Amino acid sequence: MTRFAIISDLHSNTEALGAVLSRLEKEGVDSIVCLGDVVGYGPDPEHCIDLVMRHCELTLCGNHDEALLRGAQDFNPVARQVIEYNRRTLKPSLLSSSLKRSRWRFIESLPARHQMGEFLLVHGSPRDPIHEYIMKTDVIFIPDKIRDIFDHLDGLCFVGHTHFPGVFTEDLQFRDPAQLDYTFTWDGQGKAIVNVGSVGQPRDGDPRASCVIVDGHEVRFLRTDYDIATVQRKIYDNPNIPDLCAARLEIGK
Ligand SMILES: [Fe+2]
Repeated sequence: MTRFAIISDLHSNTEALGAVLSRLEKEGVDSIVCLGDVVGYGPDPEHCIDLVMRHCELTLCGNHDEALLRGAQDFNPVARQVIEYNRRTLKPSLLSSSLKRSRWRFIESLPARHQMGEFLLVHGSPRDPIHEYIMKTDVIFIPDKIRDIFDHLDGLCFVGHTHFPGVFTEDLQFRDPAQLDYTFTWDGQGKAIVNVGSVGQPRDGDPRASCVIVDGHEVRFLRTDYDIATVQRKIYDNPNIPDLCAARLEIGK
């Protein structure tokens, strides 16, 4: 039985991604898959793409990766500003290096969903794999949305996108990693949706990078410290990235 890691929402944060990759190497996982949003928000999109190309067996398309290629009309002003900047620096021209071309081709090649044995992998949700947010508050305020999402699913699904880790179950419950004692064990029969959280921009109040390790039907939530101050300095030094993208990292919001 393979033991693999799932990462998501790296958002151009090299320090967070590097710390997570080192941790996963020590954990001895067999492979790593990425649920998308490699770019956007942070200072190092090129290096993050290079690390993902080198270390991830599979990478899916997130809404920021898609917006890099097709435009960010529906993004908020901060997210749009950074992705348009990423597009200016990443999009190859006739004279660009082969490395720059290979990065762009890699983003163009990312699939929206992937069925891995019993597990469905998407960035957003089973019924809208790139764009739809499954929020923890939906189980209370929009329960029909959650029921319909579960109707689009057989078994266990892994998502990212909200940057908020935890598990949704068919009984319309959401449990965060602490409530699960950091481990969720799937019974192999019912349906559940696991949000793996974000490596590069957590929003659950814990600034450490988030990911999961899947071992059979057991899903373990991991948090990893990284050098937040260095990423913040790079963002403050870059006039193309709003300061908000740096300030939020240390509070995990
Ligand atoms: Fe994201």
